[in-house]
Amino acid sequence: MIDGKKVLFSGMQATGNLTLGNYLGALKNWITLSDEYECFYSVVDMHSITVRQDPAVLRKRARNLLTLYIAAGLDPKKNCIYYQSHASGHAELAWILNCFTYMGELNRMTQFKDKSAKHADNINAGLFTYPVLMAADILLYQADVVPVGVDQMQHLELTRNIAERFNNIYGDVFTVPEAYIGKVGAKIMSLQDPTKKMSKSDENPNGSIYLMDDPDTIMRKCKRAVTDSEACIRYTDQQPGLKNLIDIYSACSGCTPQETVKAFEGKGYGDFKAAVGEAVISVLKPLQEEFDRLSKDKAYIDGIIKDNAEKANYFSAKTLRKVQRKVGFPDRIR
Ligand code: TRP
Repeated sequence: MIDGKKVLFSGMQATGNLTLGNYLGALKNWITLSDEYECFYSVVDMHSITVRQDPAVLRKRARNLLTLYIAAGLDPKKNCIYYQSHASGHAELAWILNCFTYMGELNRMTQFKDKSAKHADNINAGLFTYPVLMAADILLYQADVVPVGVDQMQHLELTRNIAERFNNIYGDVFTVPEAYIGKVGAKIMSLQDPTKKMSKSDENPNGSIYLMDDPDTIMRKCKRAVTDSEACIRYTDQQPGLKNLIDIYSACSGCTPQETVKAFEGKGYGDFKAAVGEAVISVLKPLQEEFDRLSKDKAYIDGIIKDNAEKANYFSAKTLRKVQRKVGFPDRIR
């Protein structure tokens, strides 16, 4: 609890370009949650180097992502929007938690298996202990809730196990966090393969709408989206491409899928796809304009980075000192 509010932690990696799926599925919910919780939204740049990165590109992308959090509507005065690497407690707690995590547990992580298959030439120890750093992120702020996608549930479960294990030995040190699965849960699928999640690492750029796509590109991608030959606008799993477009339209225009179906009853797919394109543009255009405006205001963003790094360090140091005492590190002499 901070000031009577429950604590929320979440983070995103600054690798790849964020998609409409990241926005509708995650970022947009973060904004809703920011009234109810004391929120820490991190740009998890330390996780990013588990895969080789071009330093200049990573730095630029990290700043863009941080700016995007704000452009999307997260108030940086209320929410702690910061770089993971600016709060050294993440690395320090991760080390300690490494000593409370079993090889066997980490070996079972499906993301580790997937990533080591994908980066077979660089299966480094950081990739293996990635989930422990994630546990440190969460436990460092005593987070009560963590909004995550299903792909991160296994990591969150591990976090809970580590926290409980630690608490069993040392008493109530960590809050055991709960997953927060979005109520609206707009899970956006690829426009080219509606059985796959829309992903920033998709090789086919037509499958994803990127947050920085211009209106023509958005419209083109929507018009080319894979549908079916039923020629009937219905919201059913039998028409996954169309269902996805209905979800996108609904999330962008703030109505239910049923209302969307009703509004387009009897219309052709061509008309509907154009309407989807318009709806997406109407959401992304203001976001892009705000992003451009903020990006130009270097002093403002720098100020946010500085203030929130201090805030993150303040709260993380509290937990860290407690943990260090518990495990037996000597007190500091002041
Ligand atoms: N691993 C998460 C992802 O790839 C990002 C992340 C890092 C995270 N630390 C976190 C998410 C803590 C939630 C809480 O999506």
